[in-house]
Amino acid sequence: MSIISKNIQNAATLLKADKLVAIPTETVYGLAGNIYSETAIKRIFETKKRPLFNPLIVHIPSIESLEDIVSYVPEKASLLAEAFWPGSMTLVLKKHANIPDLITAGKDTVAVRVPNHPLTLELLQTLPFPLAAPSANPFGSISPTKPEHVERYFKDAIGQVLDGGPCANGIESTIIGFENNEPVIYRLGALALEDIEAVVGKVSIKNKKEVSPDAPGMLERHYAPSTRTFLTDNVSEEVKKHLGKHIGVLVFKSEVNSNAVATQIILSQEGDMAEAASKLYDAMHDLDHQNLDVIIAERFPDYGLGKSINDRLQRATF
Ligand code: TXA
Ligand code: MG
Repeated sequence: MSIISKNIQNAATLLKADKLVAIPTETVYGLAGNIYSETAIKRIFETKKRPLFNPLIVHIPSIESLEDIVSYVPEKASLLAEAFWPGSMTLVLKKHANIPDLITAGKDTVAVRVPNHPLTLELLQTLPFPLAAPSANPFGSISPTKPEHVERYFKDAIGQVLDGGPCANGIESTIIGFENNEPVIYRLGALALEDIEAVVGKVSIKNKKEVSPDAPGMLERHYAPSTRTFLTDNVSEEVKKHLGKHIGVLVFKSEVNSNAVATQIILSQEGDMAEAASKLYDAMHDLDHQNLDVIIAERFPDYGLGKSINDRLQRATF
């Protein structure tokens, strides 16, 4: 029997019993549990095989719930929350004393967001507790953007995938921390840098592996298919280096003309980066299940969502 279902009441019942439910969000599917249940939170780490030093994001139903989660909100954090919640932005703020150390990996800050998906907002409003939810994939692998992706990963380990269809944005939220009350981007994501800067002015970016203590999940290899993946500005040239192999290609908008390519996915014929982002992980899942020898991915223009997509593609290579 499939664990994919739209039944919100069933999801709520499971979560109240310390079980895990995969929840849809507009970014990616999350593997959710009650933030105040030690049993549930330990299950999240075990199910994902995620190291305990990597903290979780707390999902809340509205800005009003923020006061239960954090102890201090800088002015620019308020501006951002008002502008973008519900939405694809996570804020890292000083934590409320009640937030368990397991959630924050012992840090004095907590990551929090209001996701923008009607089913999950309804679920969060029903529940008497917020949900911790990392992306619903085994540690290091490609994040899920469809219920079927989660089912394939965790069929036997979780009670339900709450079926919210394909994720509209398709890459993880943008994570913003605060240093001396000034916003710092810890992870590029589904909310473009330019949109953030339009609200709070210039922000700095610490998205690199050398600052991994700030966002411990930002390991260099992450979001990775099991098929060897290359990132390039010139797909045709890269293809020539792998002749004779079973090659899959992932391009932005224009097809590559080459007999050497076995399969090819175009992310947006119109050249729309939002459309490309929404399809990115599904394309990676798809290519990864075609028994290819290599995947060759095209680098995106380095602005807007292209910057975030390039970050993910870079981490998919090794
Ligand atoms: O779009 C998303 O953000 C999805 C959906 C399900 O909401 N969630 C997600 O969670 O991507 P996860 O666990 O895969 O990534 C969370 C990231 C990790 O890189 C983690 O290190 C960082 O957030 N993080 C969590 N708490 C933090 C904290 N207190 N300080 C800095 N980084 C933190
Ligand atoms: Mg993740």
